[in-house]
Amino acid sequence: MKKIMITGACGQIGSELVEKLRKQYGQNNVLATDIRKPANSTGPFEILDVMDAEKMLKLAKNFGADTLMHMAALLSATAEKNPVLAWNLNMGGLMNALEVARQLNLQFFTPSSIGAFGPTTEKEQTAQDTLQRPTTMYGVNKVAGELLCDYYYTKYGVDTRGVRFPGLISYVTPPGGGTTDYAVDIYYKALTEGKYTSYIAEGTYMDMMYMPDALDAIINLMEADGEKLVHRNAFNITAMSFEPSQIAAAIKKYIPTFEMDYAVDPARQAIADSWPNSLNCSAAEQEWSFKAQFDLDKMTKDMLEKLSKKLEVKAS
Ligand code: SER
Repeated sequence: MKKIMITGACGQIGSELVEKLRKQYGQNNVLATDIRKPANSTGPFEILDVMDAEKMLKLAKNFGADTLMHMAALLSATAEKNPVLAWNLNMGGLMNALEVARQLNLQFFTPSSIGAFGPTTEKEQTAQDTLQRPTTMYGVNKVAGELLCDYYYTKYGVDTRGVRFPGLISYVTPPGGGTTDYAVDIYYKALTEGKYTSYIAEGTYMDMMYMPDALDAIINLMEADGEKLVHRNAFNITAMSFEPSQIAAAIKKYIPTFEMDYAVDPARQAIADSWPNSLNCSAAEQEWSFKAQFDLDKMTKDMLEKLSKKLEVKAS
């Protein structure tokens, strides 16, 4: 990776990924693109609608990219509200990006998700290679996307790589329209209101990861020796698995007065119920030495510290 172009650069992952890559690979070696302008830009930026295949190709060519990271997508809850748009954007955007990678011979990354599994998949220690019959449009997109990336590798030799991300938690850019977003919202509300109403029911386990681990995973996978990769699209990775009362208890350690109650949203609960409780990451561990640094307690401490500075409120 020397010249990296990113789509969806203003999104939940993209906004932090761009900064991290710029620090590591040089400010001018990372081209950020998104359908909207970032609030502040720290390097090259271009407006790009991922449905515009011609412009995507032109931008990658003019920049001299050797790597394309395709991050633009609708998340699970939004996709469920507008399945046709989700199909068109998630699949159309990915297809355009893969074509650019094929034509310019770029290394390629795109994220899959725990959403690529469905209610018939085993819930505990979900295997790397297992049954994938998701019941959400987002999940359908993710499985099709994994297969499409495999196809571009086997048919054209495009160096496609990917991970199945769990819910990602960060204090920088809030997620939009995901099912796992409660695990981000809860920290904001804990600091600003001292209480939180969870739309996910008690006892609903989902895999999660702190953003610094997610960014490291992307870079480590992209830098990994391709010869050692048996899998490519996409590796199970996770850092922790918890249910709402456990994250509430972790916050209570630092904010003892914090209270949580529940008002379950049936739409997002149904999505969460169809996903695994915990992923098995042994393929990622063996093939490219994946290892997360943050567990629930370490993440909670860091989130509350960083977020209280950002929001200018005290965790008490
Ligand atoms: N965080 C994502 C979502 O909830 C999962 O990939 O949609």
